[in-house]
Amino acid sequence: MIVTTAQLFDVAYGNFAVGAYNINNMEQTLGLFRGNIQSQAPFIIQISKGARKYAEVKMLEAIIRAAEEIFPDSIFAVHLDHGDEETCYSCIDSGFYSSVMIDASHHVLDENIAITKRVVERAHDAGLSVEAELGMLGGVEEDIQVDEKHAMLTDPDEAAEFVERSGCDSLAVAIGTSHGAYKFSGSQGLHFDRIAEIQRRLPNFPLVMHGSSSVPAEEVARINAAGGTMDPSAKGVDEDEFARAVPLGVTKVNIDTDGRLVWTRVHREFFRDAPDAFDFRKPGEVFVQAYADFIAHKNEKLQSAGQLETVRKAVS
Ligand code: G3H
Ligand code: 13P
Ligand code: ZN
Repeated sequence: MIVTTAQLFDVAYGNFAVGAYNINNMEQTLGLFRGNIQSQAPFIIQISKGARKYAEVKMLEAIIRAAEEIFPDSIFAVHLDHGDEETCYSCIDSGFYSSVMIDASHHVLDENIAITKRVVERAHDAGLSVEAELGMLGGVEEDIQVDEKHAMLTDPDEAAEFVERSGCDSLAVAIGTSHGAYKFSGSQGLHFDRIAEIQRRLPNFPLVMHGSSSVPAEEVARINAAGGTMDPSAKGVDEDEFARAVPLGVTKVNIDTDGRLVWTRVHREFFRDAPDAFDFRKPGEVFVQAYADFIAHKNEKLQSAGQLETVRKAVS
């Protein structure tokens, strides 16, 4: 069942974080639904501009509709990840999405607010909610690259002003994470003091954590043992820290890179061990179950596992 993102946030705020997982193809979608049913969790499907180009908008929609029929007990929202203004309007007008993200964080504050406000007006008229971004995460996102020294934590006062003036429904905040597989050097981690400050100025307002993959060292080692050349210093968010972020208002946690690592590990190991194989359904089957197990594991850490019936009662 597709619900609104706002409905999920109402139940989740302060209790658990909703996992927001990107999809790009059928295998990932099948594994995603299976893993969420396996762990009895509500979830958010994220579609990036890159995914819309790669898999075609119509194909992604059809895959999601089919998965909804195959897994009739599932409860989820469909969300545009890192949208620009034009893509937001296209998703709003399609009638298929639950919410959109307008990412104008690379603009100066007033411009970010002006763009976000335009999208909010159009989205709210159509019954969708809007996630915006303030601050600058490091790493690569869509076609924009931000290096570590230009990444900027979200300013709590600015966050309150931004929400007030833009009317957005949730806010992606820069709290130390970055996109991709190389997030932290040394002993860096999440800035809990900053999250707490933002929550103090925005009580009961859902905060979104992007760049939340944990980039397990063991996964990187297996990829490299099967022919990969990933930098072994790759490092992500300690997934045991999600539980600390939940009471501070982090209600949506975005995870994409870790799923890509699962795909890479499964396929590299499969073809290393069966170099004569060419039926892609064989590693595909392994991947779908490995991805489902991965999703179920993340949901345990996010505390969304086991929340499906609570959400069902709240939305029916
Ligand atoms: O933050 C970006 C997401 O990981 C989506 O990545 O734009 O390569 O699809 P993508
Ligand atoms: P990761 O690269 O850490 O998986 O972050 C994904 C993300 O923030 C999608 O919006
Ligand atoms: Zn992101």
